[in-house]
Amino acid sequence: MIKKIPVAQIRVGMYVSDVNAGWMDHPFLRNSLLLEDQEQVLKIRRAGIREVFIDTAKGLDVDDVPTAQEAARSSQQDLERMAEAPENKAPPPRTSLAEELAKAKGAFNEGARLVRSVMDNARLGRQIEMESVKLAVEKITNSVIRNSNAMFTLRRLQQRDDYTYQHSVGVCAMLAAFAKAMEMDLATIHQVALGGLLHDIGYVRIHAEILAKPGKLTDEEYLHVKSHVVQGSDILHQTAGIPQLAFDIMEHHHERFDGSGYPRGLKGEEISQVGRMAAIVDVYDAITTDRVYHRGVNPGEAMRKLFDWSKYHFDPALFQIFVKSIGIYPVGTLVRLESERLGVVVEQREKNLLQPLVRVIYDAKRQYYLPPQDVDLSRPFGHGGGDRIVTHESPLKWGIDVNRFLS
Ligand SMILES: [Fe+2]
Repeated sequence: MIKKIPVAQIRVGMYVSDVNAGWMDHPFLRNSLLLEDQEQVLKIRRAGIREVFIDTAKGLDVDDVPTAQEAARSSQQDLERMAEAPENKAPPPRTSLAEELAKAKGAFNEGARLVRSVMDNARLGRQIEMESVKLAVEKITNSVIRNSNAMFTLRRLQQRDDYTYQHSVGVCAMLAAFAKAMEMDLATIHQVALGGLLHDIGYVRIHAEILAKPGKLTDEEYLHVKSHVVQGSDILHQTAGIPQLAFDIMEHHHERFDGSGYPRGLKGEEISQVGRMAAIVDVYDAITTDRVYHRGVNPGEAMRKLFDWSKYHFDPALFQIFVKSIGIYPVGTLVRLESERLGVVVEQREKNLLQPLVRVIYDAKRQYYLPPQDVDLSRPFGHGGGDRIVTHESPLKWGIDVNRFLS
């Protein structure tokens, strides 16, 4: 049985089936291991991990803790309650998703191309062309403001090879949506989004073979990877016209609310507000994407994990606003409906986070594909709606390629 336990309770002889540390940008521990000596126990505790999953069939058991399933169910309920919170003054999107998708594609690809060229130039010690960066950021931001579903859809349709470039655009777009939900003004949203686009530029000074390494990193390699933050800040300092907010995002995106982050181990409000926002967005984007060493998790599952981590690692009040900006079943989430059908969330409505537009694709009971049909869960039965999300589902478990149904 898989159980979830606080790290204070782990001891030698237990089998950790998941170290529950997806918020780290690189696994310096294997994700599952038998705890053979005290050193391993301490290493998990020192890493700032607060809760892990153990497999009681493969190692020692412990009483009075929830099973992984029970823990997941109860967090999901809490998260749904949070999403129900009334009061969302968000105006409706200014363009339809289909219309916006056509416009957003150019902005997304241009953004990714630009990050590539900025990084290539930085590698050669050349100046960052700030005018073109600002222009690209404005295009991405404006698309998000018109209808954020388009950029979020494009991010889901990512390709594996270009990770850093697409991650940068993803973080940029999501930070813009987050900043909008925070009711920041347009000039500020642009600065925050700019910080998002450049936040990982320090990776140009990290050895490529370490970044591409599929296995476990040595402590030394992990330290080197972490140095991308100070390296990035160094690069920004050599560039004229970088707003302070972009520096804050760069320097704080790996700090954690409980002080367990890096490079400075800042705590709570010692971390800038935009840095605390960037930490949430960075982790969300990273864990929902396929990498050399892990498969991306379903966005709905990612939200539940982030909710759990927000008790320690993230600012809980900001997490609540983040939920408003992308929903608890974000675009690309595979969900199971009350009617026993599976569908993919294609459009999130800021006014009602629990009732998005879902493309129904599969009959879970009889196990066959259905002709895709869009169901607006906010509408009553007989008017294109009349169904309800029961839970999110793993696409892997069902063998469903969600991306096929997104475009
Ligand atoms: Fe980073």
